Amino acid sequence: MALFWSALAPSSAFAGTAASVSAPFLHARHAAVASDSRAASAAGVEILKAGGNAVDAACAATLALGVVNPFASGLGGGGFALIYLAKTGKATVLDFRETAPAALAGRLKDAVGLKPQSGLSVGVPGEARGLAELVRRFGALPFSRCVEPALRLARGFAVSPWLAQQIRDEIERNPTSGPDLIAKIFSVDRQIATQLRAGDRVARLALAATLERLQREGPASLYAGDTAAAIVDAVTAAGGVLAPADLAAFVPIERQPLAVDFLRRHVLTVPPPSAGGTIIVEALGILAHRVTAWKREAGPNAPDYLHNLAEALKHGFADRARFLGDPAFSRLPLAHLLDARYHRELAQRIQPDRVLAHDDYGTQMKSPTEPARDGGTAHVSVVDKTGNAVALTSTINLEFGARIVAGGIVLNDQMDDFTTATEPCGEPPSFARRVPSREGLETLPGFPCQTPVFALTGSQANRPAPGKRPVSSMSPSIVLGDRGVELVTGAAGGPRIVSATLQILIDVLAFGLDAQQAVATPRVHHQWEPDILYYEPGLPAETVKALENKGQRPTSRPDIGKANAIVRSRSGLDAAADPRSGGEAVGY
Ligand code: GLY
Repeated sequence: MALFWSALAPSSAFAGTAASVSAPFLHARHAAVASDSRAASAAGVEILKAGGNAVDAACAATLALGVVNPFASGLGGGGFALIYLAKTGKATVLDFRETAPAALAGRLKDAVGLKPQSGLSVGVPGEARGLAELVRRFGALPFSRCVEPALRLARGFAVSPWLAQQIRDEIERNPTSGPDLIAKIFSVDRQIATQLRAGDRVARLALAATLERLQREGPASLYAGDTAAAIVDAVTAAGGVLAPADLAAFVPIERQPLAVDFLRRHVLTVPPPSAGGTIIVEALGILAHRVTAWKREAGPNAPDYLHNLAEALKHGFADRARFLGDPAFSRLPLAHLLDARYHRELAQRIQPDRVLAHDDYGTQMKSPTEPARDGGTAHVSVVDKTGNAVALTSTINLEFGARIVAGGIVLNDQMDDFTTATEPCGEPPSFARRVPSREGLETLPGFPCQTPVFALTGSQANRPAPGKRPVSSMSPSIVLGDRGVELVTGAAGGPRIVSATLQILIDVLAFGLDAQQAVATPRVHHQWEPDILYYEPGLPAETVKALENKGQRPTSRPDIGKANAIVRSRSGLDAAADPRSGGEAVGY
């Protein structure tokens, strides 16, 4: 294994405008795991070396991430895995997104008034059943083996700089309850909780006991019996409505990946209830039609490219707002949204030197607020020695989820991803006119409301109902080319997950950046509402000015998603974790 650390900006054909930060990167001959934590990536590689495949490794790395980064993901959350199996050339998606407890719909009035991190915000966790099912169907080792590294870590690990930062932020945000939450997660007293620093050794003993049962008895141990009772009690005590029957009813769902061809590569990504893949397919479809307008040779920081990217994102997010929801509950016009002719139509609407009127991207609605912070998600990319690949994103939503701990598990606040306004916000008069007149589309519901924290506009299709999954932004993606898997990527970061993943796909496929360059390059984000083009501070000032001159409204924000990527190179695999999260790739 050769591991290179770079203290300099990555060299590239676009070095003049490359990132001012660099990503730790890895060149591996055979296999690689990239994640937000070196310990989690190492857990994945341990499983690969023990005879596991990419699926087993993704499972081990994800469980380990839940231990060492309890603010981002874990058994209390859910996610999406995109799997590519080299032997059959087949890809599939396993959706283990949280579901709404049966009683949530009846408590909508309360849910709207409550803080997003509360008992009512807890959805039925999906991770344990999801990972176990993933390994049972597609893995090479028993699930119990994948649990081993996480169990070891739960008995003792060193606090990373990123975890230390998250602990400090939590205590600063919630000076009274924050220290109690941290004390509970690490089984320490309140005072020690406030003093935890990077490098300190901690354990998660309650979680270790839960992981032991998970290893011995499988996921049923979390969905019935003592752990399930502890989860229900903790949520009930916090005013939530999660019931034992909700836990018993949870099942992961296998789904068909979405696919789009972009610059002679085949991009695979995830379908609803995540909106991430749909927006990525739409945006890549639009950008493919405008390749001459954004001039690939000018590089990823060129204003023409970023303007086209922002316009493509606005179209994608506007369609998310109008249409997306859990496909089990609404008829989604996916064939239309994924249609190359529709992408061409949207591409033709883009103007080189100005933005469109707000309504030309979608429907008129109330002004949203600034999108929130986004530490509650994690992504793992894996490629194994036989060319299998897994892109797996998991989440507990906001940092430390609902801030409720049971059996050592930090529970999600994923119900925050539903649009929860009590009243329909009203159907804008122009809505029907904006929908292309194809049979059936006019009758789709169109009540634009917003998700509480991320201020994502949504329709009736994303209102809670028993057993329903809220729309997600998670975007695990795999690119296939002549040599099999060429790129595995995905990101954390609320709605910015979509923009970050999309930019890594384009950085690699269109601009030829390597893994390190692609994850480190400054990113932008636009989600249509609010009308703000967020950009990272590394973007050159003249680019920002040029975007402003085109009618964009640029605003700087510290980071736009946390991503990682594995890219096939001539002699093996290049892998990089995001310098914004302090993660690391490991391989051999
Ligand atoms: N909770 C973040 C997402 O699923 O989009």
